[in-house]
Amino acid sequence: MQFNSTYNDLDRRHIIKLLASEGEEKKCLFKEAARVKKEHVGDIVYFRGLIEFSNLCHKNCLYCGIRSGNRKVVRYDLTDEEIIDSARYAFDNRYGSIVLQSGELESNAFTKRIDSLLKKINSLTHGGLRITLSCGEQEEDVYRQWFESGAQRYLLRIETSNPGLYSRLHPNDRKHSFNRRVDCLNNLKKIGYQAGTGVMIGLPFQTTADLADDLLFMQQNDIVMIGMGPYLEHTDTPLYKYRSLLLPREKRFDLTLKMIAVLRIIMKDINIAATTAMQAIDKLGREKAIMVGANVIMPNITPGSYRDDYLLYDGKPCIDENPEDCKTCLEARIAIAGNEIAYGEWGDSAHYSH
Ligand code: 5AD
Ligand code: SF4
Ligand code: FES
Repeated sequence: MQFNSTYNDLDRRHIIKLLASEGEEKKCLFKEAARVKKEHVGDIVYFRGLIEFSNLCHKNCLYCGIRSGNRKVVRYDLTDEEIIDSARYAFDNRYGSIVLQSGELESNAFTKRIDSLLKKINSLTHGGLRITLSCGEQEEDVYRQWFESGAQRYLLRIETSNPGLYSRLHPNDRKHSFNRRVDCLNNLKKIGYQAGTGVMIGLPFQTTADLADDLLFMQQNDIVMIGMGPYLEHTDTPLYKYRSLLLPREKRFDLTLKMIAVLRIIMKDINIAATTAMQAIDKLGREKAIMVGANVIMPNITPGSYRDDYLLYDGKPCIDENPEDCKTCLEARIAIAGNEIAYGEWGDSAHYSH
């Protein structure tokens, strides 16, 4: 297959073909993605310290281990002090950026709490950390308030760009509306956030054409940060009953690598994460992602004792480790992948023009 300048605008049929590629054709795809990465963003990896500060969630997504309906989960909520200590760890270790992630809650108390945390972290670090929020769907004025209090980035995965598939993965109620999720993403962009999204790969009922549409959705919406990972079944979720429909785990992993590679080629200068879910399948998963186009890693800096209660899927790595273990481990892994960690840099996407 030829790679030339028209590659910016790969059409849907071409993308589907690349996602199905094997052998020489697949090798060629990975090689081209690595070349584009080197040319446009460099062989560099940015760190985002991930703080999974609470597994409380009022939603009930059918695939997720911490859905509200899963009574087996031990619920936790870090204290403000623990969150701030984690942010300080990231700052002291020159991570440049943190992600505050939780289940989805919408309430005045939650809005105020995040607002006050943002102010405290920004004052503690003299604005030296880029703060990303990953706290789900919220009203526009809530997003605006948080932006004004110092959050610059927001991650909200669309999960799948196919509304029909979305409705099979979520309860059929107003709390789980595809249209609201799209509206939220649009509001985030409008307010001025660097908006991130992403999808799960290898879901039951998902086709290669759906995945091609996911990539086109990201392109059409001019998204600047992407986190995509393989879908991994969780025993205590309703979607588990469809596990016989799934591709083998290695195939889901391989498909994720191809998605990253195609995305790098069609959106050359955005930030693409090598997600933890990739490492749940393949011990070298994140390194492999970096080699085919990813340029962001989110080292887990959640205090060790809470980690085994944030299990979105079975087999999540790093649950017995602490922040320092993950740092040392990732430094070695990134070196293996022939990349350099950009310590002390914010790592804004070159694509973000505000
Ligand atoms: N497998 C893989 N990813 C999952 N997520 C939730 N459940 C799973 C699962 N079973 C992802 C979703 C969500 C993010 C926080 O984690 O994409 O947006
Ligand atoms: Fe809650 Fe997110 Fe899990 Fe859905 S995917 S149940 S919103 S934590
Ligand atoms: Fe956490 Fe390797 S990244 S132990």
